[in-house]
Amino acid sequence: MKYNNIISTITGGINIITINRPKQLNALNKETISELSKEISISNSNPSIRCIILTGSGDKAFVAGADIKEFVSFTKSEGKKLAREGQKLLFDKLSNLETPTIAAINGFALGGGLELAMSCHLRIAVQHAKLGLPEVSLGVIPGYGGTQRLPALIGKGNAMEMILTGDIISADKALELGLINQVVAAEKLLEATIILAKRLMKNSPNSIKNAIKAINASDSSLKGFKEENLQFSLCFGTTDFKEGVAAFLEKRKPEF
Ligand code: CAA
Repeated sequence: MKYNNIISTITGGINIITINRPKQLNALNKETISELSKEISISNSNPSIRCIILTGSGDKAFVAGADIKEFVSFTKSEGKKLAREGQKLLFDKLSNLETPTIAAINGFALGGGLELAMSCHLRIAVQHAKLGLPEVSLGVIPGYGGTQRLPALIGKGNAMEMILTGDIISADKALELGLINQVVAAEKLLEATIILAKRLMKNSPNSIKNAIKAINASDSSLKGFKEENLQFSLCFGTTDFKEGVAAFLEKRKPEF
């Protein structure tokens, strides 16, 4: 299939999907989310694809978040719809996918970018990767499941610190917290991710699917995801939101 924002390369039963908007640091606009959703569904229904790898184009960013320019003037109801649809099309779909998925984090994984990586079943990052959920500095909160998936991975206390400070952490710190599974040298990222994929692929696809379902059942609080969607939408149109996104676009620090 021909896409505008992603590239799919299938090799040895692995679909390597590259998000390809390097000038925007691979930020997730609506079209990219829709293309990823389509390609992931196609792969999942193809039994010869036994693992999906998601990565970003270039060496600077995996994904620098949801595309801020797309939602600057959104109302509360538009904000709510944006997050709800993104979750359904991509983030929840990935997290509950039967085919195992690995995020190969080649640089910044911020906001929706880290949420995308956390929706994958496993994560490998390069040494220079930077990870964080800086949404509160924009006057919003994580809206693609970050408030739920981050505490499930690193515990409530660490997640509170990361989300409330908006701090961006190193790959080594992310490894220490259990946010990622491995840190590798930049030139080894693809090779290391394929080695990990092959370690999964030698096992029963049926058991992998069942294990993913069982593991996810431990942290799938629908109440939490619903509350996130509500609180995310309530940020839109507020004075803080207007200041936060304006500051980003004007390349200055916000004043709250
Ligand atoms: N959305 C849209 N455009 C983005 C973007 C994003 N999330 N991140 C970067 N870009 C664009 C910049 O606007 C810039 O475009 P121009 O050249 O047209 O000005 C280009 O990518 C390069 O970015 P910078 O000039 O900012 O590069 P830098 O090296 O100075 O900084 C960075 C890199 C620290 C990653 C910085 O780009 C940044 O802070 N990005 C935003 C990170 C962020 O806040 N993400 C959360 C988004 S909100 C979200 O994801 C909500 C949700 O949960 C649903």
